[in-house]
Amino acid sequence: MQCKKILMAAALVMLGASCSNIERSRNLSDPLITARTLAEQVCSNCHGIDGNSVSPTYPRLAGQQAAYIVSQLTNFRGHQRSDPAGSEYMWGLSRFLTDEQINGLAEYYSKQTPRRADVRKIDPALLATGKEIFEKGVPEQNVIACMPCHGPRAEGIGAFPRLAYQHADYIVKQLTVFQDNVGRPGTPMEFVAHPLTGSEKNSIAAYLQSFPE
Ligand code: HEC
Ligand code: HEC
Repeated sequence: MQCKKILMAAALVMLGASCSNIERSRNLSDPLITARTLAEQVCSNCHGIDGNSVSPTYPRLAGQQAAYIVSQLTNFRGHQRSDPAGSEYMWGLSRFLTDEQINGLAEYYSKQTPRRADVRKIDPALLATGKEIFEKGVPEQNVIACMPCHGPRAEGIGAFPRLAYQHADYIVKQLTVFQDNVGRPGTPMEFVAHPLTGSEKNSIAAYLQSFPE
């Protein structure tokens, strides 16, 4: 067990250069490994043991909607989600996952408690604008409100992801991916994100990351 962990850590160190080590890991290509073991020994290295990742490079999965996690892992595995960081990290990691493992991983993360990160003091004006966009959209720019789809507490529902407490940098990055229309095609977000300006993306992301408790 310990040895496996060390190997995994070594594979992660080398990830900067290539994903191949992690792809060939026995853990990832063995359909008998349980979802829980994968979550604890593999996914935890980036997403955190309870899905509350620390680095904004890695999205938070704690409390995420199970149906959404299933759809994203299936999209990484089938290469439908091809935004740069997604393909670089998650294609190899999802390649050998069985449907059963995917369902188990989704269940595991959806049951973890999402924790609000300690965010440095954020400009109240930024938060006020973010709240306004979340609840009402920006009618004069044809930006529709986020709340009807993502839920009143940004908790998500089914295939509509939870956004509350997600890293702001990750949210801004994904909104830009949707605007570019390539990496995550065929979702309502292409239409929703299209008219957002850079400062509006920053406001909404700041608000979502520090969503009021
Ligand atoms: C080496 C780091 C790393 C490991 C290990 C890793 N991931 Fe990821 N994962 C990422 C990155 C980076 C992204 C964000 C990609 C992007 O920006 O599009 C991501 C994205 C995701 C997403 C999409 C989240 C969202 O909000 O859309 C899911 C779901 C996910 N990972 C699940 C897993 C699972 C399950 C495992 C274990 C089998 C795993 N990841 C292991 C780096 C990792
Ligand atoms: C019509 C419904 C709808 C509306 C309105 C909507 N969204 Fe979404 N959003 C979705 C769906 C569906 C997805 C999942 C897309 C996928 O499966 O890749 C999503 C995904 C996202 C993601 C990616 C989350 C992740 O973990 O990668 C972000 C960020 C996001 N939405 C932000 C917003 C913001 C900000 C607004 C308001 C300006 C908004 N959404 C309005 C339906 C909606």
